[in-house]
Amino acid sequence: MDDFRFGIWGCGLISTFHADAIKQIEGASIYGAFDLNEESKDKFCEKYDAKSYASSDELVASKNIDAVCVCLPSGLHYNAAMTCIRNRKHVVIEKPIALSSEQAENIAQEAKENGVFVSVISQLRYSDAVNKVKHIIDSGKLGTITLGNAIMKYWRGPEYYASSTWRGTWEMDGGGALMNQGIHGVDLLQYFMGKVVSVSAYSKTLVHNIQTEDTLTAILEYENGAVGTIQATTSVSPGYGRRIEICGSKGTVVLCEDTIETCDIEGENNTVCDEKQDFASASRVDGIDCSLHVAQLKDFIKTVSSGQSPWIDACEGKKSVDIICAIYKAAQTGKRVYLK
Ligand SMILES: NC(=O)c1ccc[n+]([C@@H]2O[C@H](COP(=O)([O-])OP(=O)(O)OC[C@H]3O[C@@H](n4cnc5c(N)ncnc54)[C@H](O)[C@@H]3O)[C@@H](O)[C@H]2O)c1
Repeated sequence: MDDFRFGIWGCGLISTFHADAIKQIEGASIYGAFDLNEESKDKFCEKYDAKSYASSDELVASKNIDAVCVCLPSGLHYNAAMTCIRNRKHVVIEKPIALSSEQAENIAQEAKENGVFVSVISQLRYSDAVNKVKHIIDSGKLGTITLGNAIMKYWRGPEYYASSTWRGTWEMDGGGALMNQGIHGVDLLQYFMGKVVSVSAYSKTLVHNIQTEDTLTAILEYENGAVGTIQATTSVSPGYGRRIEICGSKGTVVLCEDTIETCDIEGENNTVCDEKQDFASASRVDGIDCSLHVAQLKDFIKTVSSGQSPWIDACEGKKSVDIICAIYKAAQTGKRVYLK
């Protein structure tokens, strides 16, 4: 495969996952990077042997770069993605794609008009356990699906919010425990359950000194007739692994982080459960590894190089933002919100 060269925009925590992943992919390389913070940029460029760009304009205009990974605070994703697209660069945007459905829609439209591809990081979709659960659901073995729940009782300490002041702000994080930490569970829930048609919610800031919520609970109604709940917090000590529970009239499957914890199907021996794992990401932000970023970026390179849209494109990335924004609206108004 020819060399597929990435530029990295934003050299903070998650950029190292992108860089470590790219280094593991044959035929891919990190060409250069930019960060407003000189120290972060220098450290990154030295570690990954990347060209240090003096401005984001130079990075996105470079003829040596095929795609840019946007690893900036979430509130900057929209403008950064639009700039990359207008410079005819393919883009990998960290989650969330943007902070509103309208912004996500504009990114999809702009990419189409400029003939480039966009992928939104949702690395869990590339996990074996997630694929097994999806397969079980699609096989119909769970009977009539009745409940779809995502329970994300995480802990983040005050040092987490202090270390990057954009976190927990409406302008730059677009929300709190749900938009930042919970979005992965929301994406999986809609992937497993299908379209959400209405939501109701309560949202509170109970523990942390932040603008956005640290504790949220929502009730969902799905197009398939099932109902469910989402709980998303950064206020629950010591923090627990993300649980996704899909229940039906003939069986139940429970995914805890990246492990199938329960798979009870009528008339079948339970053979698909995984061994229990240590759920480090429930209480620590660095508790994830880059193997699923490797899988998503590999898929991105393969599809884009053959002129095809990647699996998790802007429209796919928009789905979780649609649900989250509807939940925030429901919590703020105290009313049930219907999704289009
Ligand atoms: N996929 C995942 O599991 C996962 C995990 C963590 C974070 N994220 C996402 O990654 C994104 C970044 O999060 P993070 O934890 O790496 O944040 P961070 O604060 O560690 O890093 C952000 C970087 O952007 C730089 N920056 C800020 N404004 C800039 C600007 N105008 N121009 C250039 N650089 C600028 C900062 O100096 C910093 O180095 C967020 O959107 C977050 O939601 C995803």
